[in-house]
Amino acid sequence: MPISRAWSSGFSRVRSELRLCRGVRGLLLCAVAGATGAMAGMPDTTRQAALVHMVREDCGSCHGLTLRGGLGPSLLPVSLQRLTAEDVAAVILHGRPGTPMPPFLGILDADEAHWIAHQLRQGFPQEPARP
Ligand code: HEC
Repeated sequence: MPISRAWSSGFSRVRSELRLCRGVRGLLLCAVAGATGAMAGMPDTTRQAALVHMVREDCGSCHGLTLRGGLGPSLLPVSLQRLTAEDVAAVILHGRPGTPMPPFLGILDADEAHWIAHQLRQGFPQEPARP
């Protein structure tokens, strides 16, 4: 699905979620959606933890465990400044045809790719230390 379509379907979802918020009965639904981050089309916190793990392990296998580059280029904020978050999300979803960068569409949805793109551009979170 082209990224623009993915976005507009995301927007219409947010719009319909906003519609839920109208009226007193809606307020409760809205609060629940807001608490899980679902309203903004953002992955919930459990999924965010899984995404952080996936990026560090899977993306890290090509982009380096510290994301400073390996087979693939560095994914540190300073390296991604020349790209918009949209560009980064598009590379994640569709890959770079003709290069080893694979498409992740099917593994990640558009919201998840955008979330990862935003995190990468501002400094990707570390995984919490495990006991
Ligand atoms: C099989 C190896 C491989 C894996 C796995 C991989 N990448 Fe890549 N990635 C590459 C290569 C190689 C390039 C450079 C492509 C090119 O020449 O333009 C790239 C390019 C990119 C770029 C563009 C960087 C730039 O400066 O232009 C981004 C962003 C990116 N990858 C993110 C990711 C993310 C996020 C993941 C995990 C979801 C991931 N990649 C997984 C190999 C990989």
